[in-house]
Amino acid sequence: MFEVIGNDILAPNLHRLTVRAPRVAAARRAGQFVMVRSAAGEERIPLTIGDADPAAGTITLYVQAIGASTRRIVAVPAGGALRDVAGPLGLPTHIANWGRVACIGGGVGTAVLYPLARALAEAGNEVTTIIGGRSAQYIILKDELAAFSRELLITTEDGSLGRKGFVTHALDDLITDPKLRPGAVFAVGPVPMMRAVAEQTRPHGIETVVSLNPIMIDGTGMCGGCRVVVGGVSRFACVDGPEFDGHQVDFANLTDRLSTYRKIEAEHACRLAGKETV
Ligand code: NAD
Ligand code: FES
Repeated sequence: MFEVIGNDILAPNLHRLTVRAPRVAAARRAGQFVMVRSAAGEERIPLTIGDADPAAGTITLYVQAIGASTRRIVAVPAGGALRDVAGPLGLPTHIANWGRVACIGGGVGTAVLYPLARALAEAGNEVTTIIGGRSAQYIILKDELAAFSRELLITTEDGSLGRKGFVTHALDDLITDPKLRPGAVFAVGPVPMMRAVAEQTRPHGIETVVSLNPIMIDGTGMCGGCRVVVGGVSRFACVDGPEFDGHQVDFANLTDRLSTYRKIEAEHACRLAGKETV
């Protein structure tokens, strides 16, 4: 069992869990994830390791409560425990010094972006961070990201915080100005956002890394559930990723595969909420 030390709400349906997992905390590197089960027999949920404190033996997980299983995970209070936390899994982020990089987080994807943006800053990159959400209440980790970013740009779709619009509007200013243009772009968020960023940087030849979140089952390369097509070749996000060259990803295929279990997930969520039908 893995004790939950803290459980706080960052945004609607988004929880930050601090979990005691000493061996994971000691071994993890930026970009890696764990497989979590709230109880025996429950679905395994892949969660990026947002942060780790090896001295305290704890890791930080950001969990968006969207389906039945993630709702059960966020329902575990401080003092409770998770049944399984397996990891660290996946390849760590490839960290190099590009000089100037742009890190882009859309909505809850900002939580996945945080550890890799920090690792890029620690490697000496000048990081410009762009985070976006539907409105101010969905903007997360802005103080934490500002602590190591040269500049933090915020966009909201309703204009309630920062610039009104999408993250791509803020990115446009950077890549069209030769004095600001980054050597690499890292984007984590909804698939349409990552796709839009990749199309934006492609004509400029800017290296673009995206973090993919396909459906995962075992997380060890055995089941094929997390198959994504990159450069025309099938890759498994859990062992070959989760980060890939955004210019090579087949986003249409990813979108299609992500919708496979949508109806079943909605039915489970309704049952959990005590309803009969979707
Ligand atoms: P959201 O839909 O509210 O979008 C957040 C921001 O992303 C928007 O405000 C906008 O700035 C940008 N964005 C969205 N669509 C865009 C487009 N077409 N073009 C340009 N910018 C766009 O995000 P949310 O509801 O917080 O995110 C939920 C989604 O994120 C889920 O689909 C989830 O699976 C995915 N997600 C992905 C990862 C990952 O590792 N890639 C991690 C967590 C969540
Ligand atoms: Fe099974 Fe990746 S989750 S192969």
